[in-house]
This record gives sequence, structure tokens and C-alpha cells, in this order.
Amino acid sequence: MTKILLLGKSGQVGWELQKILPLLGELVAVGSAELDLTDFNAVRRLVRELKPEIIVNAAAYTAVDRAEEEAERAMAINATAPGVLAEEAARIGAWVAHYSTDYIFDGKKGSPYLEEDSPNPLTVYGQSKLAGEKAIRETGAAHLIFRTSWVYGLRGKNFLLSILRLAREKEELGIVDDQIGTPNWCRTLAEATACAIECINCNPAIKSGLSGIYHLSAAGKTNWYEFAGRILAADPLKQEQLCRKLNPIKTDSYPAAARRPLYSVLDNRKFQAAFGFLFKQWDCYLRDLFGEGA
Ligand SMILES: NC(=O)c1ccc[n+]([C@@H]2O[C@H](COP(=O)([O-])OP(=O)(O)OC[C@H]3O[C@@H](n4cnc5c(N)ncnc54)[C@H](OP(=O)(O)O)[C@@H]3O)[C@@H](O)[C@H]2O)c1
Repeated sequence: MTKILLLGKSGQVGWELQKILPLLGELVAVGSAELDLTDFNAVRRLVRELKPEIIVNAAAYTAVDRAEEEAERAMAINATAPGVLAEEAARIGAWVAHYSTDYIFDGKKGSPYLEEDSPNPLTVYGQSKLAGEKAIRETGAAHLIFRTSWVYGLRGKNFLLSILRLAREKEELGIVDDQIGTPNWCRTLAEATACAIECINCNPAIKSGLSGIYHLSAAGKTNWYEFAGRILAADPLKQEQLCRKLNPIKTDSYPAAARRPLYSVLDNRKFQAAFGFLFKQWDCYLRDLFGEGA
């Protein structure tokens, strides 16, 4: 049975992976309490002890604004630790599945980003995630690097939960309408990841050709203002909402430490073609989430 090591089991994506990966093999899942990614020796020890065939790294430093003040920590968790993981994976011939972000792009392209488009991160977070991609690739380990965007779910910290909370506290909300991207339900990301892992597990003949970077994203695009409207419309407990009006505002009038790309839609065709996974429109997943619950 394939042994899979999952890091970041309590995060949005990690939580969902913890539920689905046992279908594919023997899963050992750890969170920050069991393994601190800034302890590089502990990272090495764990991989050497377990000798997994697949390592899935869903752990990351994801506080985009705080990273501007904590560059060293963001780099350690998002770049150095994934590099160490991949080095160890290369030693034992294991695969590394890892997540990266749309924020490695500067947003100037204006049409969906392809995997080979030139990155130009605007923020420390984006730089640290890009450095993580590079660190993994340089080890020569077989890898699946999944860039995704605007992750939400019913756990943790995300835009959907913030909007649901704020709509119960305030009568009007100002929401940015000039950043364009694609929201992704963490459960879909875990399902797509499982599909890719199943492919590399079951097809030894083609698996080495699958190593690479993939854009993992629902279809379509929106902006935060429209996304907020859809969230509030789909909220099954609408009667609890105090909010009567959403006001579109511009990025410039919403102060944040880290500058977001104005356009970060990811072209998902490479992933779909490689792994036979068809992504639905982003808003279908929003409806699925409210229909199915946590
Ligand atoms: N969230 C987004 O909108 C977004 C967008 C694009 C790409 N991504 C990428 O997608 C991946 C998954 O994101 P997510 O939203 O699921 O992240 P998340 O909910 O913020 O979870 C991150 C996990 O990393 C763990 N972690 C943080 N520091 C750690 C450390 N020093 N040692 C060990 N574990 C540590 C956290 O553990 P604790 O909970 O114990 O602190 C947490 O469980 C990440 O690679 C992220 O960069 C996310």
C-alpha cells in the first residue's frame, strides 16, 4: 500500500486532504504541533523515518499582509522547508505534491495565466512561494506543484467566512471590485489533488512525464465584490444577515500591507488534460458548499 505523508493537516486544504487521501493509501498526517516546518532537521528526520512514497505539503505561511513584516519566517516555511522536503524525497525516490499561488504573478497579463508565463511577485508572500517552487524543482525530485487562488471553505480564515461574519455585524460593506480572479473551494482542490496522485500511483509508465507545475483552479472568473454578493445570496441562514447593501470600492481605497495582483486568473487546461479532471465554474462549487455543509 502506498505510504503518503501529509503536512498541514489542519489547514483549509489539508483538512480536506486528510479526509480523501486515506482512499489512496496509508496516510500519516501531521500538523504544526507534530512538525514545525521551521525546524529543518525535524523535517528531514520525519521523512527519513517514515520513508513515504508521496509527500503532500499543504502547510504554508499564508498571512499575506503579515508576511511583509515577517519575511524571514515566510521564507523559511514557504521556501526553505519545501526545499528540504524535496531533497529528502529525491533521496528516496518519493513524489512531492505542493501548493503555490496566483500571487507569484503581477497581474498585468489581462488573460488567464499559463504555467510557463513569467512570474513577478508583488509581495513577500508571493516571493516566498515562488522561491518554494524553485527550491523543489532544483532538487530534481518528482513533483506536482499546484498553483491555486482565492481558497475558501467553512473552516479557518478566508474571504467567505469573513463576509458571512461581517454581514451579521454591519448594514453596509465596501468590497473591492477591481481585483479579478477565481475562488476555489478547498474541497475541490483536495479532490483534484487526489485525482492527480491516483494517476501517478496507477500509471507507472507515464508517471515520470507528469512531474511539473499545474494550475489548479475552477473555471471562470469574478471579483471580490461579485463573490461577496454570491456568498450572501447563497447563505442558507440569510435571515441572520444585517447587511442590506454591498458597495463596490477600488483597491486603492482599501489599505493593505501587501499589494495584490489586479488580475490573477489561472488557465487550468494543462491540469485537466494531464489528469482527466474537469473543473466546473467557480460558482457551482459555492453552491455545492452551502448545499452539502462542512
Ligand atoms: N488561502 C488562499 O487563499 C491560498 C491562495 C493560493 C494558494 N494557497 C496555497 O494553498 C496552500 C494551502 O493553503 P490553505 O489556505 O489551506 O492554508 P491555511 O488554511 O492557512 O493552512 C496552512 C497550514 O500550514 C500550517 N503551518 C503554518 N506554519 C507552519 C509551520 N511553521 N510548521 C508546520 N505547519 C505550519 C498551519 O498550521 P496551524 O494551523 O497549526 O498554524 C496550517 O494548518 C498553501 O500552500 C497556500 O500558500 C492558498
